[in-house]
Amino acid sequence: MLEKIQETAAYIKSRISTQPTTAIILGTGLGSLVSEITDRTFIDYKDIPNFPVSTVEGHSGRLIFGKLGHKDIIAMQGRFHYYEGYSMKDVTFPVRVMRELGISTLFVSNAAGGTNPSFEIGDLMIITDHINLFPEHPLRGKNIPYGPRFPDMSKAYDQSLIEKADRIASEKGIKVQHGVYLGTQGPTYETPAEYKMFYRLGADAVGMSTVPEVIVANHCNIRVFGISVITDIGVEGRIVEVSHEEVQIAADAAQPKMTEIMRSLIALEE
Ligand code: HPA
Repeated sequence: MLEKIQETAAYIKSRISTQPTTAIILGTGLGSLVSEITDRTFIDYKDIPNFPVSTVEGHSGRLIFGKLGHKDIIAMQGRFHYYEGYSMKDVTFPVRVMRELGISTLFVSNAAGGTNPSFEIGDLMIITDHINLFPEHPLRGKNIPYGPRFPDMSKAYDQSLIEKADRIASEKGIKVQHGVYLGTQGPTYETPAEYKMFYRLGADAVGMSTVPEVIVANHCNIRVFGISVITDIGVEGRIVEVSHEEVQIAADAAQPKMTEIMRSLIALEE
C-alpha cells in the first residue's frame, strides 16, 4: 500500500513544478472555484498510476495544480464515493497521496440534508465534528505509518480554521451554521425515521461523503476544514421528496457564498 502511494506521488511530482501544501476536494458547491485557479496543470485520474478507476463513463475526474490567489494548491475535481462501489482504501487513496506530496491543510465541501430544525435549504454549515456511520472503517487493516494505530479524533476539524472562517463569513455578511456532519453510505436519501434517528444521535446534517477522507487526513496529520451546503431538510413535518436534481439546484444557488468563504480562507493560510 505504502509503495503504491509513493509510486503515485512520484508520478505526480514528475508532472508538476510546484510544491503545494494546500489541497481542496471540490465537492458539491465548490465546482466554480476551478475557474479561479490560475497557472493550471491538469492530470486526469485515468493517467495516474494506482488511482481508482472511475465508474462513470466520460467522467474520470482530474487533479488540478495551480494557484488560488498567490497560493500553490492541488484541487481534486471529482471524488470517489463509497456508494459507487469503491473500497474505503480507494475512497481515501488520494488523501494519502496528498500526504506524500507534502499537503498540510485540506479543504472539503459536500451537500447534505439538514436534520437540525433551525436549518434552511441553502444554508452553509461549517463542520465542527462528524459521526462515522460508514459500514467499513477507512483505517481498517495494517496500520500505514503516517500516524498511530489508534488515532485521536478529538479535533478532527481544525478550530483555528473554523474561527477564521467565522470571521470571514461575518465580515462578508454571509450567514453560516455550525454542526455535526453524519456520514452514511447512501445511495438512498433517508427515510423520515432515519433523519429523526440521526438528529437524535447528534447529527445536524447527513451526507454520503467526506468522513472517510477526513479520518485519513487526520491520521496523516493533515488539518481539515469542511463546509456542507444544506440542500434538503430532514425534519419532521418539513420533509418532501428529494431528488439529485433538487440537491444540485440548491447547491448551485449556495455556490457563490461557499466559494467566497473558501477562497478567502485559503488566501489567509500560511
Ligand atoms: N441525505 C444524504 N445525503 C445527502 C442528502 C440527504 O438528505 N442531501 C444531499 N446529500
